[in-house]
Amino acid sequence: MAEANAQLGLSASPVRSLNGRVRAPGDKSISHRALILGALAKGTTTIEGLLEGEDVFRSAEAMRAFGAVVARSGEGRWRVDGAGGLSEPDDVIDCGNAGTAVRLIMGAVAGFDLTVTFTGDASLRRRPMGRVLKPLGLMGATWTSRKGLRLPLSLQGGDLSAIRYAPPEPSAQVKSAVLLAGLRAKGETCVVEATPTRDHTERMLRGFGARVDIAETAEGREVRLSGAQSLQGQAVIVPGDPSSAAFPLVAALITPNSEVTVEGVLLNPLRTGLLTSLMEMGADLVVNNEREEGGERVGDITARSSVLTGITVPPDRAASMIDEYPILAIAAAFARGPTILRGIGEMRLKESDRIALIAAGLAACGALVEEEPEGLIISGARDANHAVAGGARVATLGDHRIAMSFLVLGLAAERGVCVDEAGMIATSFPGFSALMSGLGADLTPA
Ligand code: S3P
Repeated sequence: MAEANAQLGLSASPVRSLNGRVRAPGDKSISHRALILGALAKGTTTIEGLLEGEDVFRSAEAMRAFGAVVARSGEGRWRVDGAGGLSEPDDVIDCGNAGTAVRLIMGAVAGFDLTVTFTGDASLRRRPMGRVLKPLGLMGATWTSRKGLRLPLSLQGGDLSAIRYAPPEPSAQVKSAVLLAGLRAKGETCVVEATPTRDHTERMLRGFGARVDIAETAEGREVRLSGAQSLQGQAVIVPGDPSSAAFPLVAALITPNSEVTVEGVLLNPLRTGLLTSLMEMGADLVVNNEREEGGERVGDITARSSVLTGITVPPDRAASMIDEYPILAIAAAFARGPTILRGIGEMRLKESDRIALIAAGLAACGALVEEEPEGLIISGARDANHAVAGGARVATLGDHRIAMSFLVLGLAAERGVCVDEAGMIATSFPGFSALMSGLGADLTPA
């Protein structure tokens, strides 16, 4: 079926089974980084498998505005001709819904003598930017922003000094912003992470020729780079996004008589917390054909219908599955016994307050759920036979992962589920409806 238009909701009806093999769209985090590093580098960067989603298009547009030549040459094939630096755009940089785009680009901009104004959509304008502005300020950048350090804001960069920074929150976006600024700072920049977060920036910086030193210390994982480093354009292969693969995989686990394989999924251990958690719940998940692609481990993951049992997810696993809690919460609604998710306060600061929306949506769909300030306890279905009722219209507040999660619930519930908005799914998973329908999902505009 066709993608729903932006104003329309989408409904998912229960199906008897889901079956097939699909390829996950390109990884969103790696796609943003390929475009940004490509623009900062000298020479040509070619990208294969770029996620052609609206969030990533914002990074592509922004890099054009900073002077890079960014062109598409085929499906997922892009070329960036970088100027070896950024020049001042003549208009506001609108990052739409994309937190990764705005936070990483702010870091990159801080190293240059430029004044740049950033904005975003209503969701992004509500999200905190202080976590990036604070370290960039310590390095010497200045800014003017709305109250609460929110977008729109204008950032003035240039003449930075290196810092040693331990982000108070586990955030790959903050780490990446500081490292990108550090590329042009005087001295050695160091980010110390008490809990390691996705390491795509470090890996890709090395791939583009930068020297990045990484060490495990008593304080945590230290990532160091010295300033005045230049990057050289590269060939980048983007693996399949585990955060997107999660939706068809969990759909297969909770729908009867199902077997779904998602090919080419990134298996970077800093992104596999969901797979670990699902396996602990008893999920029949098998990884085949593990291989190296573009410097990352990837594999084909097969999920079969499973009887799931509730677990306690250790809080220190949160960073490796931060975007996957919404879909894990759906799996938990179909599990026997409580699933305890704690230490996930960051979830309230994503595209929406995901803790609140998951709690409200699950309760409306007949699951037992308790909301905590920084957690959720999901005790399966209210029904004694473990059947999740469904039959609700779920509010998404424009959050793509909330929409996809509740559509997956609707495929396996007693009655269908309707999400109030679906167009924003294209920010991270364009073609979600078509891919899921190809597996047997029943999705209709509502
Ligand atoms: C991302 C980091 C995470 C994640 C986001 C992508 C990245 O955000 O939620 O979807 O590409 O660096 P935080 O850094 O805020 O945890």
